[in-house]
Amino acid sequence: MSKGRLEGKVAIITGAASGIGEATAKLFAENGAFVVIADIQDKLGLQVVASIGPEKATYKHCDMRDEKQVEEAVEYTIHKYGTLDIILSNAGIMGPLVSILDMDMEGFDNTIAINLRGSALAIKYAAQAMVAKNIRGSIICTGSMAATLGGCGPYAYTASKHAVIGLVRSAASELGKHGIRVNCVSPFGVATAMACGVKNGEPCGIEAATSAMSSLKGIVLKVKHVAEAILFLASDESLYVTGHNLAVDGGFSVINDIMARVRQ
Ligand SMILES: NC(=O)c1ccc[n+]([C@@H]2O[C@H](COP(=O)([O-])OP(=O)(O)OC[C@H]3O[C@@H](n4cnc5c(N)ncnc54)[C@H](O)[C@@H]3O)[C@@H](O)[C@H]2O)c1
Repeated sequence: MSKGRLEGKVAIITGAASGIGEATAKLFAENGAFVVIADIQDKLGLQVVASIGPEKATYKHCDMRDEKQVEEAVEYTIHKYGTLDIILSNAGIMGPLVSILDMDMEGFDNTIAINLRGSALAIKYAAQAMVAKNIRGSIICTGSMAATLGGCGPYAYTASKHAVIGLVRSAASELGKHGIRVNCVSPFGVATAMACGVKNGEPCGIEAATSAMSSLKGIVLKVKHVAEAILFLASDESLYVTGHNLAVDGGFSVINDIMARVRQ
């Protein structure tokens, strides 16, 4: 059997009880990594651990709004596995979808606290551990189409994701001297609990909408496609890649199909 691409590596994935984080946790474990599932949905998080197997995964309750809990999640990982090679800061919420004219500032602050401040905390404590232990680690944040384009998401969500790109680039600048890489992965719409806005398993229109808007046809974006891109950034296959925002969007953020429409 060939070796996994993350053989023996230790990874924390925040927001791994569901969606993109869950798919990534499973893919990391299949590739030989030990994974710490950090989330606030304890029941779902423990189910993910059970599906991977307790020899490869553990669950740690961690609310990304609470600095102490983020610090403890990193400490827990170092205590249990002795190292930290990878962190995926992926926990996120969409937040309230409201007009700027009726901005709900509590909802705004909460979205920023999870999506942006939570990512800053994840980078801070993961980098502290990596620097202290001289680990040439990989730090990855989940961005979004809304990280580079306006009008693709609610205000606080869009602002938080734009800022995550700035955070990633700045951290890549400082941490490069330690051999630590910091990157971002930015998916288009994927049918997860967050994107669908419901948790009752009802199909939502997100896949159809993504497929209709993407230039790349004949494929439906799934969580596994995003997880594969994250695996690339986590693995040694991207050893000279840092400060990068890897879009997984079928070209949506860089292509305007205007000429194709003119040719028709
Ligand atoms: N699904 C999409 O279309 C899409 C597109 C672009 C970017 N993203 C990003 O992907 C990431 C994952 O989202 P998803 O689509 O898999 O949704 P999801 O709802 O399935 O997963 C998000 C996870 O984050 C966790 N979480 C929420 N608040 C938290 C907190 N305070 N502390 C710790 N964990 C918390 C949730 O419990 C959940 O398990 C998010 O950052 C999201 O912005 C998603």
